[in-house]
Amino acid sequence: MRATSNRWMVFGSALLGLAIVTMTVTPAEAQRKKERRKLLGRGQETASPVLADAKKVFAPLPEKMPGSEKDTKEKIALGEKLYNETCISINKTQSCNSCHRLDEGRGGVDNQPTSTGAEGKLGGRNAPTSLNAGLHIAQFWDGRAPDLAAQAKGPVLNPIEMGMADEAAVLARLKEAGYEDEFKKVFGGDSPLTYDNYAEAVAAFERTLITRDRFDDYLGGKAGALTAKEEQGLKTFMAMGCTNCHAGALLGGDRYEKMGDAKPYANTEDLGRNKVTNKDEDKFVFKVPSLRNIAITQPYFHDGKAASLEDAVKQMADLQLGHDLKAEEVADIVAFLNALTDKKRSGGN
Ligand code: HEC
Ligand code: HEC
Repeated sequence: MRATSNRWMVFGSALLGLAIVTMTVTPAEAQRKKERRKLLGRGQETASPVLADAKKVFAPLPEKMPGSEKDTKEKIALGEKLYNETCISINKTQSCNSCHRLDEGRGGVDNQPTSTGAEGKLGGRNAPTSLNAGLHIAQFWDGRAPDLAAQAKGPVLNPIEMGMADEAAVLARLKEAGYEDEFKKVFGGDSPLTYDNYAEAVAAFERTLITRDRFDDYLGGKAGALTAKEEQGLKTFMAMGCTNCHAGALLGGDRYEKMGDAKPYANTEDLGRNKVTNKDEDKFVFKVPSLRNIAITQPYFHDGKAASLEDAVKQMADLQLGHDLKAEEVADIVAFLNALTDKKRSGGN
């Protein structure tokens, strides 16, 4: 009996010792890891540690969007038709697709610094992509619309976008274009041609706009999904702290941050989220854009003032992190960001 309990005591203290050793080793290892990240030892690590680090901060895009449970094929088809419908702009020239182009493999944008509306009026902000938009915390650069359906009601009545006078005018145009039957088939009821149902159909279509790229494959463990240069770019992206704001499945889209966190941004015209909340601390705060499909959604920033991805990346490091990136680091990050383009899209090229 005695011998047995002694053995247990030895075993117990060995365990305790092991625990202490583990406890003391962990912070040292963490420190080494931090240093390794700082040094960015090019090519010194195998693919797996980068993937392991990446899995802690990123995720593949989901298969479905929230709210899509009740979306029928018919509702989605009606939404797609409405997304491309020009009769609901004042001079019948513009549709959602004019500024968020999905034709020719484009990236859900117009590739203009700021968008031109139905009557040639220039808006104040760059058009963000409609791709994956329904996965964001809220819509617009300042998050003023809670979801896609709420968002879809805006542009049609916006005087510098589609410029329609009011909801009744939009519904009259839809009736004139023969939409009544389609709305009846999708929504049922006596008079389903309503502005709410219009927005709901457009949103249903937009909820199908989930993209799939090589980074999803990489996170899923597919060997060789990223080239060595792209993986180096991913490593640099994480090591620099871009992931403080651009993380998760969208590499953004899930929070609001100040444009010019480390250094003020030169263009102070747009107060961003401050216009929604009136809070002082929300001045120059914007929704962090998703970086999925970023290589085909140029130009960049809320004002469209960064023409190239190289320029946007270099400015981000400087403005958000106070860091002057070397040309090679910029090139690596840009290579990584190019792996975030939907396999079915190439930006119209
Ligand atoms: C004249 C160009 C134009 C038209 C037409 C237009 N949009 Fe936009 N869209 C924009 C701009 C510019 C913004 C950003 C505005 C802002 O943040 O204040 C935007 C924002 C959005 C967003 C938010 C994306 C995000 O990341 O926050 C979605 C979604 C969207 N539009 C969908 C649509 C739909 C659906 C239609 C048709 C009903 C439409 N747009 C018509 C220019 C346009
Ligand atoms: C403190 C948070 C923060 C950090 C850190 C950060 N970003 Fe951003 N990023 C933002 C915000 C906010 C915007 C939108 C700014 C605007 O348009 O006014 C943005 C915009 C961008 C854009 C342009 C997106 C578009 O659709 O126009 C790119 C590209 C980008 N970031 C890449 C990076 C890279 C690369 C890093 C690391 C070097 C980085 N960001 C670090 C918050 C951050």
